[in-house]
Amino acid sequence: MILARVDDQLRSIFDGARRVAVLTGAGVSAESGVPTFRGGGDTEVWTFRGKHITELSSAELLATDPKLVWEWFDYRRGMLASIEPNAAHHALARWEERFESFTLVTQNIDDLHRAAGSQNILELHGNIWRARCLRCASAFEARDCPLEQIPPLCFVCGGPSRPDVVLFGEMLPEGVFERAEQSAARADLFFVIGPSAVVYPAAGLPIVAKQSGARIIEVNPEQTDISMFADITLLGKAGEILPQFLSTRG
Ligand code: OAD
Repeated sequence: MILARVDDQLRSIFDGARRVAVLTGAGVSAESGVPTFRGGGDTEVWTFRGKHITELSSAELLATDPKLVWEWFDYRRGMLASIEPNAAHHALARWEERFESFTLVTQNIDDLHRAAGSQNILELHGNIWRARCLRCASAFEARDCPLEQIPPLCFVCGGPSRPDVVLFGEMLPEGVFERAEQSAARADLFFVIGPSAVVYPAAGLPIVAKQSGARIIEVNPEQTDISMFADITLLGKAGEILPQFLSTRG
């Protein structure tokens, strides 16, 4: 079913849910002014020196030109440094208190869910404000913006580091996807908010939830592959739709 806004029936499904899991993608940050990767909903798309994101954010480029990879991430950090969470991030932080269990799974590396106050967050693709040592594997916060030096050096051993994010061609951090899958399998309500649902394995989580009996609610200004099996697609912007679940009026 496709809806343009949250109605009373949907709000009562939300109020009656006990175990809720949410998957967010780039679209949840779009109203903060963060570009997306593939567009949709009139969003700006990331570009850098004429290269495509799959080339820039790749394990292959990290191996051959780590400086360029750091410059690309430093460029993104520069843009994100002045960006604030929007109404969608704030609504999700408030949802966390309402349910017996609530898990927020995100593909985003921008840290905006944490900035809005969400606590139980599974970051599938890492975090742009962290670096990881290539020598001793320690992860550490790297908040300078722009970075003082490229690559930042490890606090523990002084070795060179890389962004602590998942690049194309790499596995997800150990254990994180498994926990996301468990929360999807346990959920009675599963929200999919603003991924284009083409990047796996994250795009498989709504399928796990559906197969385990959860209702699937998608929030996106455009239909995606998820819309085919979602119980409800709310066609609209996350920052406008999500706060409606908490309001008392229809
Ligand atoms: P995409 O850029 O692929 O998709 C963004 C989605 O957000 C589209 O479906 C839009 O229609 C939707 N959208 C736009 N504005 C919205 C709004 N206001 N509210 C809700 N939805 C909105 O983003 P992701 O699927 O998150 O991975 O991208 C997945 C991965 O591709 C990223 O994590 C990144 C990238 O390459 C890596 O870097 C490994």
